Amino acid sequence: MKKTIALTILLAALASCSDSDTTQEIETPTSPTNPTNPTNPTDPTNPTTAITYNKDVKSIIDANCISCHSSGRSASFRPLTTYAQVKAAVENAGLLGRIQLQSGQQGLMPQGGRMAQANIDLIVKWNTDGLKEN
Ligand code: HEC
Repeated sequence: MKKTIALTILLAALASCSDSDTTQEIETPTSPTNPTNPTNPTDPTNPTTAITYNKDVKSIIDANCISCHSSGRSASFRPLTTYAQVKAAVENAGLLGRIQLQSGQQGLMPQGGRMAQANIDLIVKWNTDGLKEN
């Protein structure tokens, strides 16, 4: 009996010791270094950061569209090399609809295949944000 009590006390003492290291650093979702932090100002999908032509859109159009949509190319009737031209294409030539068509659908732009969804989302948000130049 005495042995059992001594053992119980010993076990209780050991159990209370092991509590000491249960607190550990965990990265919280609101940490400023968390890349999925919705308030991160450098995240282009951050709803509080406006998309602009010069900052975000021009590089996507240059890489995916102007090989055809510039002078001397197959779609030179609709150049997309300046802010005014790209803005006009969104407003009057259905640019947003064209880039959001599914692969294989008639009229999809670029003609060679759908862009990455992130690029499509960014151009759609540019329109939502007011088609700003800068
Ligand atoms: C391989 C060549 C090619 C590429 C790359 C290309 N296009 Fe086109 N695009 C065309 C041709 C040819 C037409 C005319 C035929 C048609 O309307 O489908 C056209 C038509 C369009 C039109 C309709 C113009 C109008 O006045 O009716 C829009 C808007 C458009 N493209 C946007 C884009 C955008 C945005 C990109 C890049 C994301 C792009 N295109 C990439 C060849 C291309």
